Amino acid sequence: RRVAILISGRGSNMSALIEAASEVDFPAEIVVVISNRSDALGLEKARTSGIPTLTIESKPFGKDRAAFEAVLQTTLDQHKIDLICLAGFMRLFTAGFVQRWYGRMLNIHPSLLPSFPGLEPQAQALRAGVKISGATVHFVIPETDAGPILMQGAVAVRDDDTPETLAARILAVEHRIYPEALRLVAADQIRLDGDICKAAGG
Ligand code: GRF
Repeated sequence: RRVAILISGRGSNMSALIEAASEVDFPAEIVVVISNRSDALGLEKARTSGIPTLTIESKPFGKDRAAFEAVLQTTLDQHKIDLICLAGFMRLFTAGFVQRWYGRMLNIHPSLLPSFPGLEPQAQALRAGVKISGATVHFVIPETDAGPILMQGAVAVRDDDTPETLAARILAVEHRIYPEALRLVAADQIRLDGDICKAAGG
């Protein structure tokens, strides 16, 4: 499977995916990293790993999300991309783009969805006083931070956690589960039963 990773920033999940995919038996190849910001720190990391990078600046498109997506889609077609991994990609898609990639676009979110979608999920978790939080890899649907759940990992929330310390503990889990989830999808070991992900054989 040919994978594009979409980033907007630091790209630590991107790096985890690139590292996992460099294993000989990994069922997916990271073909390109695409950023919607030319200043994304992850771009340099990807280049260092020898992965081709591209920037499609989204800012000039303003609110015209479809026009940005048209350029993105052309780029994905040119690279014959089968799967998209969103990794800290901070731009929302139109329903049309999402539907086109249904079952082939993954995202990671630093909470145990469906709890705490949207911005600053770690701060949301602390405000809610939950004792367990974590990370979720899911297929993307038009609704933000929702969609069939592929994999989750949990962490304990400590009384003295700040959003930053909780985020760091969750990030370590993200780096473990995102490559695992991509491996399952790329190896066709997941099937969708309605809105639920199940093992392909089960
Ligand atoms: C991660 O916490 C991810 O779950 C969220 O945005 C953050 C991106 O971090 N969607 P990085 O760019 O992968 O380091």
